[in-house]
Amino acid sequence: MTKKAVYRDENNMVHACTAVCPHLGAILQWNADEKTFDCPMHGSRFTREGKVINGPASSDLKILVLKEEQII
Ligand code: FES
Repeated sequence: MTKKAVYRDENNMVHACTAVCPHLGAILQWNADEKTFDCPMHGSRFTREGKVINGPASSDLKILVLKEEQII
């Protein structure tokens, strides 16, 4: 099972990416204050849509398409 980084925005749109950091594979954590997905291992940060903000990761998160039954 793939760990997912999922965010529902203010327009009720669901954004889903892999929660696996593209640097060395740590699992990202949600930062509710900054509304970012942060890597606890080396500090990479990603927007709620999965765009890389801070390295050492140099690529965005892989976008996932959720099935209707996966969205609560
Ligand atoms: S594993 Fe995420 S920044 Fe290194």
